[in-house]
Amino acid sequence: MIIGIPRERKQGESRVAMTPDGTDELTKNGHLVLIETNAGLLSGFSNEEYVNAGGVIVESLEEVWGRADIIVKVKEPSKEEIPLFRPGLTVFCFLHLAAFPELTKEMVDRGITGLDYDLVMLDDGRLPLLEPMSIIAGKLSIQCGAYALQADQGGCGLLLGGSLGVAPARVVVIGAGVVGACAVRIAQGMGAEVTVLDIDTAKLSQFANNINPARTVFSTPSSLERELVAADLVIGAVLIPGALAPKLIKRSYLEGMKNGAVIVDVCIDQGGISETSRPTSHAEPTYVEDGVIHYCVPNMPALVPRTSTKALTSATLPYITMIAEYGVENAIQNSVPLRRSLTSFKGNLTNPVIGKELGMASLSKEETEKMLIAN
Ligand SMILES: NC(=O)c1ccc[n+]([C@@H]2O[C@H](COP(=O)([O-])OP(=O)(O)OC[C@H]3O[C@@H](n4cnc5c(N)ncnc54)[C@H](O)[C@@H]3O)[C@@H](O)[C@H]2O)c1
Repeated sequence: MIIGIPRERKQGESRVAMTPDGTDELTKNGHLVLIETNAGLLSGFSNEEYVNAGGVIVESLEEVWGRADIIVKVKEPSKEEIPLFRPGLTVFCFLHLAAFPELTKEMVDRGITGLDYDLVMLDDGRLPLLEPMSIIAGKLSIQCGAYALQADQGGCGLLLGGSLGVAPARVVVIGAGVVGACAVRIAQGMGAEVTVLDIDTAKLSQFANNINPARTVFSTPSSLERELVAADLVIGAVLIPGALAPKLIKRSYLEGMKNGAVIVDVCIDQGGISETSRPTSHAEPTYVEDGVIHYCVPNMPALVPRTSTKALTSATLPYITMIAEYGVENAIQNSVPLRRSLTSFKGNLTNPVIGKELGMASLSKEETEKMLIAN
């Protein structure tokens, strides 16, 4: 199979979808890996390392997309890449389609087989391709939030851990999943006073028995609004797979918040948790709305590409290997976790949750399975 790895186009995106080690494994199994020139540079991988691993460097985006059977990327296809779509081509990356109606329509209308990293789901509900990026984004959320609180960054000048005779800052984490758990751990490590909210009490229970337990609160609109009043730093970390993030922070709640408080809306890649959130970029990560600083970067792990690229490739490689070995359609049929990630196939949207969000017709799970068997 021919696997194409383009250089990422999103602003500030420094990750690449394949390491030289991953390339080596695929080429040793007889596959051709095309890497766009300099695609790995910002992650610390030279063209030469890919060539030594058996990969082939190609000069243009057009050539990668034109020759490959499957495009493996990090983030959703960019405006430059959409014209390169062709029927039957498979695209495997973070798609976040509920946040991108036009991209979704192009993928469906132009016959792309879409596989979303975000939606590869194991039987126990774990999301093995999102998880390593969520660990990184969760840890970074506190680092970025602490930086935004600094006076030189326009923040209110608070140190998370406080000092002698000065109380620590209050961090409120909304969502106790992978991002939330990492954010809690780092915030506690920096000496902050931490509260975590979720609607799943089993998720909250993981914090109760720690040596350093975080305050846990069952999330309702009223309890959330109350917690926000005292917060210095708020982390948005909820997820409903495939759907847009629920707008749990209403614009009116900001009036009750402290002037100069910070919201790091990690779930901005799924539309964001606050009515006042809009995507920003690494070049200009924050803006102020109603006196509250918003950090809304949808590709936070790109801040640490040497860690993120290796973590991402370790997680994706088994699935890419499976697709390369068995072909896309057999792999989707044989692997339930991979089948759950299918978003478009042969001109159809195949994820009803995305269909509902975007008001588009979608095949049901059963209809998709029937179509896969018929092929
Ligand atoms: N910005 C970035 O760079 C970046 C990177 C990685 C992950 N993310 C995003 O971070 C978010 C969280 O990811 P995760 O891996 O931690 O997901 P997860 O599934 O592990 O956790 C999500 C949590 O949200 C909780 N939740 C759902 N609805 C809720 C509600 N109404 N109120 C309170 N809690 C609710 C769930 O119970 C769960 O505990 C996702 O949107 C993901 O896409 C963003």
